[in-house]
Amino acid sequence: MYKARHITNDIYYIGVNDRQKALFENLIPLPQGVSYNSYLILDEKTVLVDTVEVSFAEVFLDKLLSVLGNRSLDYLVINHMEPDHSGAIRTIRRMFPEIKIVGNARTFNMLEGFYGIHDGLLEVKDGDTLSLGKHTLRFFLTPMIHWPETMMTYDLLDKVIFTGDAFGAFGTLDGGVIDADMEIGNHLEEARRYFSNIAGKYGSAVQKALLKLKEVDIKTICPTHGPVWRDNVATILDMTDKLSRYEGEPGVVIVYGSMYGNTEQMAEAIAYGLSEEGEKNIVIYNVTKTDVSFIISDIFRYDRVVIGSPTYSNELFPDIASLLAKLETRDIKNRKFAYFGSSTWSNASIKLLAGFAERVKWDVVSVPIEIKQSLKEDKYEECIALGRLLAKS
Ligand code: FEO
Repeated sequence: MYKARHITNDIYYIGVNDRQKALFENLIPLPQGVSYNSYLILDEKTVLVDTVEVSFAEVFLDKLLSVLGNRSLDYLVINHMEPDHSGAIRTIRRMFPEIKIVGNARTFNMLEGFYGIHDGLLEVKDGDTLSLGKHTLRFFLTPMIHWPETMMTYDLLDKVIFTGDAFGAFGTLDGGVIDADMEIGNHLEEARRYFSNIAGKYGSAVQKALLKLKEVDIKTICPTHGPVWRDNVATILDMTDKLSRYEGEPGVVIVYGSMYGNTEQMAEAIAYGLSEEGEKNIVIYNVTKTDVSFIISDIFRYDRVVIGSPTYSNELFPDIASLLAKLETRDIKNRKFAYFGSSTWSNASIKLLAGFAERVKWDVVSVPIEIKQSLKEDKYEECIALGRLLAKS
């Protein structure tokens, strides 16, 4: 009963939308849901590229069969083994026991571990090809985006590349599947949040993959989440390149924790100073109000970061400590940084922020500003001066 969704004449979209899951990887909010994309190629041979999360296996199978008709499946290509894409592999194997599963050596190690599957495999190495009739697939091993087995599969005839999580985005596909058929602005924002939080740590691996793709003529990118990129191939490649090089665009993210508003007033004063000097891209986050995944996304986006924290039980404010740990994990490079803090009797937060700046090797542009109890005139002026300095830096 499902209408075929064409990507090209012979390539079909058969993915599903998840509007039930609240947290991706049980960590990251999905206010607009997420899609698990899967693709079917019909040639002399038939090929399924990636599957979906296991709870969608039944509807996925219905979609697959409605396009496949009474043909069988010859190959299942696994670009990525994380269970949001590999979850339906056992269902597919039961339905098509003769199917050959295509992956690399690391894929098969995980396939055995997750699903106990160890036969009917076709191992590919970097650059190997597989003829399907008119179509030929070429495989690019692109490890550590963001798992060791990740690879990409390129269709030489239609110049379509199936990229796994790379170039993926949070958000469901509401009607349209290809970017040309939708307003794309919000999808690009969700692609940035996806990259920053999922693959952000693996910038050098992403750079290696992008280098491999440099000579490839790409007309369409088919990721495992979010829109199929056709009108915006250059845009998503460029965005991924910049993010993976940790190249921030001009702008300032100010993040604070504040129990009673005193630390917040410092953030406001810094932003005032920035604005006075003509800075236009300024975003202030209350760390306990906005989920950290959105804050991390903007810290990947912009070139300057300011963080402020009160001292809390002789430590950092807990949500600021959590943010810093997540930033350290992602190893974001090349940011200009300033920090500020407040305390009532003991000034631990400033020392702890200094330690963070040292560990991440960010360029600290000014001495930190610290207040006791509340923001007085002199410190208010210091905060404005810090904002002005940041605008010029
Ligand atoms: Fe969408 Fe790494 O799984």
